[in-house]
Amino acid sequence: MRYNEVVMDHFMNPCNVGAIDDADAIGEIGDDGCGDVVKIYLRIEGGRVQAASFETLGCATSIAASSMATVLLEHQTWERAALLTAAEINDALGGLPDDKKHCAVLAERAVKAALRQYFMKKQIAYNSDAFAIVDDSDAGERCDF
Ligand code: FES
Repeated sequence: MRYNEVVMDHFMNPCNVGAIDDADAIGEIGDDGCGDVVKIYLRIEGGRVQAASFETLGCATSIAASSMATVLLEHQTWERAALLTAAEINDALGGLPDDKKHCAVLAERAVKAALRQYFMKKQIAYNSDAFAIVDDSDAGERCDF
């Protein structure tokens, strides 16, 4: 089979699907190459991600990566959430095929887009260099994990 069991499970039974009505931050990123779009919603209270959800228009692995990203974000401090990487999402999924690793990058970019919106709204200082991936539409082409 092309995808492992974890990937298939998060594709067939994704966690945290749909919008959060009272989201504190929303990040939406599209991949110019394949056309997939990931939208991440976050509700952050007391410095922690209390809820994370997604709406993804795309392939099986971008749905699985979005689902896993929301699972990894839940109950994390926003400082830890900001450190979430595509490699971590990929590892938690048990590894994506090389030609699908950019789906994890798309999920990371959408998470960081949401967090950046939150930081700007709340006037929280953040390391803009670490968030350059949000605007780097070629990031997925250079997956090095
Ligand atoms: Fe491009 Fe899934 S094929 S994000």
